[in-house]
Amino acid sequence: MFQFGNVLFRPMEKQDLELLHMWENDAELMMYSRSRPLTFLSMIQLEKRFEERLKEEKHLRFIIELVDTMKPIGIARLEQRDWDNVKTGHIGTYIGKKELWGRGIGRQITVALLEMAFTQLNMERCDAGSAEYNSRAYKTLIACGFKKSGTYRKIHYVNGRKWDHFYFDLLREEYLSVRMELLRLTLRDKLEQYLETIRISEG
Ligand SMILES: CC(C)(COP(=O)(O)OP(=O)(O)OC[C@H]1O[C@@H](n2cnc3c(N)ncnc32)[C@H](O)[C@@H]1OP(=O)(O)O)[C@@H](O)C(=O)NCCC(=O)NCCS
Repeated sequence: MFQFGNVLFRPMEKQDLELLHMWENDAELMMYSRSRPLTFLSMIQLEKRFEERLKEEKHLRFIIELVDTMKPIGIARLEQRDWDNVKTGHIGTYIGKKELWGRGIGRQITVALLEMAFTQLNMERCDAGSAEYNSRAYKTLIACGFKKSGTYRKIHYVNGRKWDHFYFDLLREEYLSVRMELLRLTLRDKLEQYLETIRISEG
């Protein structure tokens, strides 16, 4: 488990598939998170995918719960990719409970993933991507220190037109230079509690 402010990261379990079945077939959610509103995933397909992913230990996949309610609200992933021996973490998330969009939770999830990547897994860089029309994701990534690093032009076809796909990345030293400010902004009154959990007492 990894607690960060109001959110808790825990492993995905088989019983979460009921919830995933609802989220992964939600057209609006899939439009933003996968650039494919028309996604139809049966329970059997989800179960198969779940079994296959159990073998991919390098990739971390989480269910996110709100600490206050202990109820799942979305998912997140941190995939380890090595580009020319540079340890890279590819991150992604969605909040399945759409009524919670726009309340700062996405920013908290993103900073939590960066904490895991840079202060626990010793990554050198992180990257992420989003469709051109996803301004919530764009603003979240920029607010967390990411820089827009590239564009695949007109690669998505959604709702009757083509859209670009944006890439973002963040180097370890860039993150560390803004880390405390980001922790303060996202954790607020929970900052001390978090710093306490990552403090190693000596002797
Ligand atoms: C993208 C997502 C994770 C962001 O999380 P969130 O909790 O909704 O976002 P936050 O409340 O942390 O706000 C992030 C930024 O978006 C802005 N924002 C909020 N609502 C917005 C809206 N309706 N339109 C545009 N921007 C919006 C916020 O002002 C904030 O920007 P700022 O830091 O410059 O003020 C979440 O909206 C989500 O799950 N969306 C659907 C799936 C998805 O897009 N996943 C990401 C795929 S790349």
